[in-house]
Amino acid sequence: MKRVRKAVFPVAGLGTRFLPATKSIPKEMLTVVDRPIIQYVVDEAREAGIEHMIFVTGRSKEVIEDYFDIQMELSTSLAEKGKTDRLKILNDLQPPPGTTSFTRQQAPLGLGHAVWCARELVGNEPFALLLPDMIMQAEKGCLASMMELYQSNGGNVLSVEECDPNETDKYGIVGKGEPIGDGFRITGMVEKPAPKDAPSNFYLSGRYILQPEIFEILEKTGRGAGDEIQLTDGMQTLFKQQQFAGYPFRGRTFDCGSPEGFIEANIAFALWRADIRDKVIDDIERLMETVEPRG
Ligand code: G1P
Repeated sequence: MKRVRKAVFPVAGLGTRFLPATKSIPKEMLTVVDRPIIQYVVDEAREAGIEHMIFVTGRSKEVIEDYFDIQMELSTSLAEKGKTDRLKILNDLQPPPGTTSFTRQQAPLGLGHAVWCARELVGNEPFALLLPDMIMQAEKGCLASMMELYQSNGGNVLSVEECDPNETDKYGIVGKGEPIGDGFRITGMVEKPAPKDAPSNFYLSGRYILQPEIFEILEKTGRGAGDEIQLTDGMQTLFKQQQFAGYPFRGRTFDCGSPEGFIEANIAFALWRADIRDKVIDDIERLMETVEPRG
């Protein structure tokens, strides 16, 4: 079984739900506590043993590439001022040279198309895919747990969670079959089905381990839900040839694609930080008593 060494991060989205902020800041660079959203997702990939990070970007996303580069002036200045703790944070997060790649999705044709844009950089090996809208909180990362399922069963592994059965039309939904390890066999997939057509309420929550055969399928996949080239449609075709397992993630997931999910993520990650937790709790309690809804 081939090892999963590379991860793809589709970061080309326009982030319209975060306007006006995303007029000049990519949504992946919005800050949860003190680091950008994309850092959490890259950290999860690193923890799972990923060695090479592939970003599928778009116009006006250059700042993501800059973020993962060394800021020599900043590092020198911190060293001169003796701010070694700040410098250590930067050094610990710095990807080694040659372990990041960037390519552009030239038109917003959907997630399936974004993944296909990474085909040359991934090559003929299995890869992880992490959707940066979703950030996850757990002692052991979601992708690291999925890797264990992959190592014992091979094939393709998708993270899943349960959603409100009335909200299946927001997500890719999978059918649930017999248990495999601490997951289950997937019996089919459909993108954004109406509740009456959904095979279950298990939705695709944004982490995937995929075999490279998906690329040739995506090349031929037509437009689906939302008139976009859907990854779920491509996976449903691959499903006819290969096994798919679902891994139900047992931690907390935050959909940072929406302001409410983003705020929830900020609170949850602040509460995780022993150095600021008590102050944050005090502030929330006081604000709840004194701030009234406006207008
Ligand atoms: C995408 C995927 C969908 C998945 C979702 C998770 O949808 O197409 O299958 O459930 O991400 O956030 P999007 O949110 O881009 O509409």
